[in-house]
Amino acid sequence: MKMKSALYLSLVLVGLQVQALHIPNHSDEQEEQDTPHSPAEGGNLPHLKIVPSNADFAFRFYKQVTEEESNKNVFFSPLSLSTAFAMLSLGARAHTLSQLHKCLAFNLTELEEREIHDGFQRLLQLLNDPHREVQLSMGNALFINNELKLRQKFLEDVTTFYDSEAISSDFQNSEKAVNEINNYIKTKTHGKFVDFLQNLSPDALMILINYVYFKGYWEQPFKSFSTRDDDFFVDAKNSVKVKMMYQSKLHNIHRDEKLSCWVVEMPYKGDVAALFVLPDEGTMKQVEDALLKDTVSNWSQSLEERPIELYLPKFSISGSYDVKNLFIKMGVTDVFSNNADLSGVAEGDRLMVSKAIHKAEVDVNENGTEAAAVTMIELVRLSEVFPLPHVIKFNRPFLMLIVDKTTYSILFMGKIVNPTVKEG
Ligand SMILES: *[C@@H]1O[C@H](CO)[C@@H](O)[C@H](O)[C@H]1NC(C)=O
Ligand SMILES: *[C@@H]1O[C@H](CO)[C@@H](O)[C@H](O)[C@H]1NC(C)=O
Ligand SMILES: *[C@@H]1O[C@H](CO)[C@@H](O)[C@H](O)[C@H]1NC(C)=O
Ligand SMILES: *[C@@H]1O[C@H](CO)[C@@H](O)[C@H](O)[C@H]1NC(C)=O
Repeated sequence: MKMKSALYLSLVLVGLQVQALHIPNHSDEQEEQDTPHSPAEGGNLPHLKIVPSNADFAFRFYKQVTEEESNKNVFFSPLSLSTAFAMLSLGARAHTLSQLHKCLAFNLTELEEREIHDGFQRLLQLLNDPHREVQLSMGNALFINNELKLRQKFLEDVTTFYDSEAISSDFQNSEKAVNEINNYIKTKTHGKFVDFLQNLSPDALMILINYVYFKGYWEQPFKSFSTRDDDFFVDAKNSVKVKMMYQSKLHNIHRDEKLSCWVVEMPYKGDVAALFVLPDEGTMKQVEDALLKDTVSNWSQSLEERPIELYLPKFSISGSYDVKNLFIKMGVTDVFSNNADLSGVAEGDRLMVSKAIHKAEVDVNENGTEAAAVTMIELVRLSEVFPLPHVIKFNRPFLMLIVDKTTYSILFMGKIVNPTVKEG
């Protein structure tokens, strides 16, 4: 039987903007969702079972990306990738399935297959909870050529566990189909990604999409009048001019003496936080090599509130990745080849994944001019209680992790080597 090149896996993206103003109001920050559920029972926490795997995958993928191009900006959403391929795995069998599990760091001697999908189901519910204060959404969709007959079980599973939409489309009229898909992506990413897909390959049968959108507001915004032109040292010889934001406040920080780096936590309103990691000059490689679940977890546990003078550049960068190439290097070969067994997806046709792309964008700025009163209060507090603040200046390459604290998921991860280069 002729093998059709079939699934076109568009792992979309990530619109992320960091903006504007929030006056910290701790009285309204207790999570409502804890009340109806009982955290004591494991039953409501199936997402916790996949957290360690998702973190392992995030750091492995980061290493694969940086191995290829160590001196470039990096930005991607590990959670988007994990979710899209876990959803695809519902239709995979045999080696195709075990390679996916291995790459996504799911160890089937410790975890049942069902538990993986239960985990993502709960994770999606928690992320998309409309009561959350943060503008965060993640979703999945299948665009299906009307020639293709999906298996009922696959359709039920992607709907139940991944809340996926299944949209039937006429791929023969490829211009129209591309438009439909692009409009869907544009809507879901609030206009961040326009014309994402250029064309459809003639033998495409299905397109799988995962998107993540997050718009975060700093709990402690920067004031634009404190932003100055400043130098950012891309490497030992070269510098570029950036807009450097500044604030002097209390932050959760940690100095890792062993790895020679600073870690600064910057919370967004609504239980999401950015972890900025600033290696000392010349120690980026050392920190990257140590980037593992346990390292990051140790950092999180070691954070202490301290007054700091924080300098952070404004930046807007994006990363685009050919996931097929990267996954092949990570051992996922069958699903992209004639050996693919995706017999759980559709009847009749033998399928393989012809393309998998991922794009992510981040936009960090200070936006906001209010909240002056809050800042004043804090300045008084720190000069009275604490000694001189540390100065932590992100004027050389650094790492950024955006973590959803409700699900302990790494939503985004990146390395900012040059804040003035937009395309990773
Ligand atoms: C903080 O939140 C509470 C409850 O939502 C509200 O009553 C109060 O006015 C808020 N305070 C500020 C300073 O926004
Ligand atoms: C999977 O888990 C088992 C049991 O904990 C362990 O012995 C094995 O080494 C793990 N496999 C991988 C690839 O981590
Ligand atoms: C994390 O901290 C524990 C306890 O301090 C330590 O034993 C372990 O080596 C640390 N792990 C890493 C990867 O730094
Ligand atoms: C900041 O907010 C103002 C007013 O809401 C808006 O006009 C401006 O475009 C924003 N700037 C950025 C960089 O987002």
